[in-house]
Amino acid sequence: MSEIEKIKNQFNSKLENTTDLENINLIKSELFGKNGIISNQFKALASKSEKDKKTFASELNNLKNDLLNIIEQKIEKIKIEEINKKLQNEKIDITLPERSFSIGKIHPVSQVIDEISSIFSEIGFSVEEGPDVENEYNNFTALNTPENHPARDMHDTFYLDQNKKNLLRTHTSPVQIRTMKKGKPPFKIIAPGRTYRCDSDQTHSPMFHQLEGLHIDKEINMGHLKGCINYFIKEFFEVDKIKMRFRPSHFPFTEPSAEVDIGYEIKNGQILIGEGNKWLEILGCGMVHPNVLKNAKVDSSKFQGYAFGIGIDRLAMLKYGINDLRSFFECDYRWLNHFGFDPLDVPTNYRGLSK
Ligand code: PHE
Repeated sequence: MSEIEKIKNQFNSKLENTTDLENINLIKSELFGKNGIISNQFKALASKSEKDKKTFASELNNLKNDLLNIIEQKIEKIKIEEINKKLQNEKIDITLPERSFSIGKIHPVSQVIDEISSIFSEIGFSVEEGPDVENEYNNFTALNTPENHPARDMHDTFYLDQNKKNLLRTHTSPVQIRTMKKGKPPFKIIAPGRTYRCDSDQTHSPMFHQLEGLHIDKEINMGHLKGCINYFIKEFFEVDKIKMRFRPSHFPFTEPSAEVDIGYEIKNGQILIGEGNKWLEILGCGMVHPNVLKNAKVDSSKFQGYAFGIGIDRLAMLKYGINDLRSFFECDYRWLNHFGFDPLDVPTNYRGLSK
């Protein structure tokens, strides 16, 4: 076997068994590098006799071309294989069944908070917030509530410490104090949020929701309060006429104080607001007591106004025909699916509050 044939056989089988680019490149430099086998053969050409030179040179050239060809093809093949492997791994299986996809529902309480906020924003109220954990001063003392008032009792209020300094707010009224203390009059705000009392039955839950309203300016009187509440009830229940009565009441932080009832009737199992002669209490209100203004650093000789506190859960029950308050907080998805609202249907006065 000639020298050339030997090299050819040796490298043919070597290349055949190589599957990665790195080894191919090693073989390439073993053959064609500076001291490579083929390069050395070319160098050896000079020492051949004139007669052998020609045939040897042409054989050597053929060998060189053959091997280079094989190497190029091999490289090409490996590259294609790598691409195919990548494609195989990244393949998307379009026959897989889709992941289940469901849109949640807006809870009726959240819906009603949005509706009420929209109604009051139409007449210039902005939204404020206060913390659920409140101090005794903002919740009672600043609101003119005397030491011996029954609301301060342990039976009514969840205190967070022995000396009754911190508590879960029993109403949203402390937001009145927070708002007035941090700003300058006039004030025209609503404050929705969670409130807490030791109470639990079909119409009372230890955690419930209220919405506070506060309007303080120079010439505010009880007529404004009545007009505001009247407008709110009509907008909220989406009716043109309502029956409303202001019943004298007592809150330490308002003077005079009133509770507001609305007239309703039940026809074919449905509640009709604004008709009939049954009355339902929906909110407490009154003219803000001068002591409250004083405690919140507002000059009561110049400014006065009204405040109100609406029970949100009760309004939601009334408007959407839900008869057990406790069901609001049981987190039952079937219930939420039935009574909940489409998240993309944001309530506005223009497009309609509820659908
Ligand atoms: N905070 C009172 C309550 O929880 C409601 C209220 C608010 C009354 C504002 C008058 C003014 O019952």
